Amino acid sequence: MGRCAMMFTLITGASMGIGEAFARHFSRGGHNLVLVARSGERLQALAEELRQQNGVEVKVCVEDLGDGQSPERIYEFCRSQHAGVDFLVNCAGLSRAGDFDDIPIGKLEEIMMVNMTAMAKITRLFLPDMVARRAGSIVNVASLGGLQGVPGLGLYSATKAFVLTLSEALYEELQGKGVRVVAVCPGFINTGFFERAGHNSANLRLPISETGVVVKAAIKGLKNNKVRVFPTLIDVALVFSQRLVSRKIVIRIAGFIAAVRDN
Ligand SMILES: NC(=O)c1ccc[n+]([C@@H]2O[C@H](COP(=O)([O-])OP(=O)(O)OC[C@H]3O[C@@H](n4cnc5c(N)ncnc54)[C@H](OP(=O)(O)O)[C@@H]3O)[C@@H](O)[C@H]2O)c1
Repeated sequence: MGRCAMMFTLITGASMGIGEAFARHFSRGGHNLVLVARSGERLQALAEELRQQNGVEVKVCVEDLGDGQSPERIYEFCRSQHAGVDFLVNCAGLSRAGDFDDIPIGKLEEIMMVNMTAMAKITRLFLPDMVARRAGSIVNVASLGGLQGVPGLGLYSATKAFVLTLSEALYEELQGKGVRVVAVCPGFINTGFFERAGHNSANLRLPISETGVVVKAAIKGLKNNKVRVFPTLIDVALVFSQRLVSRKIVIRIAGFIAAVRDN
């Protein structure tokens, strides 16, 4: 991308939940924003609110990340708007509760496209400009579920393992290049995500936190040059406890906590 008048923070999945919380936080901090999701009306309403509240520039890019060409269109949108991106938050994601052999093939493809393909392609498209400027930050929203296979959320947990693994490799590749990347691994967050996945959040066997803990952990992680961060003390304790038991037990406990299946 050529010379840009202004720099922007691009957030996928900005229409609700954790992505919206990132948008609100960064706009309060004076970031100009590019908001990406499918829900155009929600994005427009949020954009208008943030412009008025915080005096920042907010661009709306309505895209379905389940469409394989959407990352290229998002990159072109930013180019055409002369919006340089020096901060990227890959937050869009979805899940589906149930055993792997029950997931409709179309839903399987959608989950993989949004959680992995779009996240990887968007990062690949915007990263060279960040490296060329020697300035950039990337937050990848992974999950505690990405640390092991979660029975009842097998595909979802595998997609989040992808996010985490790619972030780790990128972290090392980007050392000394002026670009930071952090993977934030939330436990359970109050957004309606589980209901949208056909999973009753009342069944979850861990406390549910608010979106702010994810935003705070990600920003602290970037500042402290961490490769991955866990938003709550319970998340940290769970990660640590994995060292103490066998892998089979780790997987069984993850399934018990997520409580999608009859345990
Ligand atoms: N909630 C949790 O407990 C939790 C825990 C760990 C990790 N996470 C991760 O955090 C991220 C955000 O989750 P959330 O809890 O905020 O969920 P959410 O409230 O359901 O929000 C998901 C966001 O992703 C967007 N999205 C979904 N499919 C899309 C598509 N095909 N194209 C474009 N955008 C799409 C949605 O926008 P549209 O519907 O408008 O397109 C929405 O903005 C996800 O990656 C999730 O895996 C969540």
